[in-house]
Amino acid sequence: MTLYTDLPDHFNVETDRVFRDEILPFIEYEILALESYERDRPADATYIFHEHIHRAAREMELTAQHLGWSSVVCTNLYWAMLPHDIGKRKIDVTLWDMEDKPSDDIKNLRRSHTDLGLEIVESALGHLTHPFIDLMVDVIANHHEHMDGSGYRGLCADQLSTPVRLASIIESFDGYQVWRPHFGDRDISTEGVLKRMREEKAALYDMTLFEKFAAMKRGEIECS
Ligand SMILES: [Fe+2]
Ligand SMILES: [Fe+2]
Repeated sequence: MTLYTDLPDHFNVETDRVFRDEILPFIEYEILALESYERDRPADATYIFHEHIHRAAREMELTAQHLGWSSVVCTNLYWAMLPHDIGKRKIDVTLWDMEDKPSDDIKNLRRSHTDLGLEIVESALGHLTHPFIDLMVDVIANHHEHMDGSGYRGLCADQLSTPVRLASIIESFDGYQVWRPHFGDRDISTEGVLKRMREEKAALYDMTLFEKFAAMKRGEIECS
C-alpha cells in the first residue's frame, strides 16, 4: 500500500482511461448497492450511509480546495472518499440500528466494514494496478484511524497518510453532526462539533489539518 505523505497528484481521474472505464463503474455500482442495502434499515434511522458518503466526499474536495491543493488533487480525493464505507453493506443490516447499547462483538462487526470494503475492492478490481486504487484502498482501510493509535487498526501518526488524516477528521465531523439516539442533548451544531473535536478529541486528529478544516467550516457559517 502506498503511503501518501505527498498529495496524490501523479494521476488525474478526470482524464485517466482505466479510471473511467473500470474504476468509476465499480464505484457507481457500489454506491447503488449501499443505497439498496439501506432500504432495509428502519424508517427513522438518521445516519444514512449512502448520504454520508456523498457529504464526506464533497467535504473532502471542499477542504482540499480550501487548503489550496491543486484541482487534480481535489478531484482525486473526492473520488477516493466517495466509496470509503462500501464495506458496510456486507454486514447484517439489523446490526446498525439497535435500541440497546451494542455489545463489543457487535461493535467489532460494525468496525469490520473497513476490511470488508477492502475485500470488495480486491474481488472486483484485484486484477488492476493503479495509483487511484492505492489511494482509495488507503482511505477505505484507514478512515477510522487516529493519530494516537486509538483507531480501529491501531495505526499511529507516522503510518497515516495526508488523505487519511483528512478523511478521519471529515468522517468524525460528519458523524457528530447527524443526531442519533445515544447523542441525547449533545450540541451538534457546527461550532458545537468543532469545539468537541478540539477540546475532547485533539489527540485523535492531525490538528494542523483540523484547524484549517475548522476555519473553513466557520467561514461557511459566516457566509450563510
Ligand atoms: Fe467508516
Ligand atoms: Fe464514513
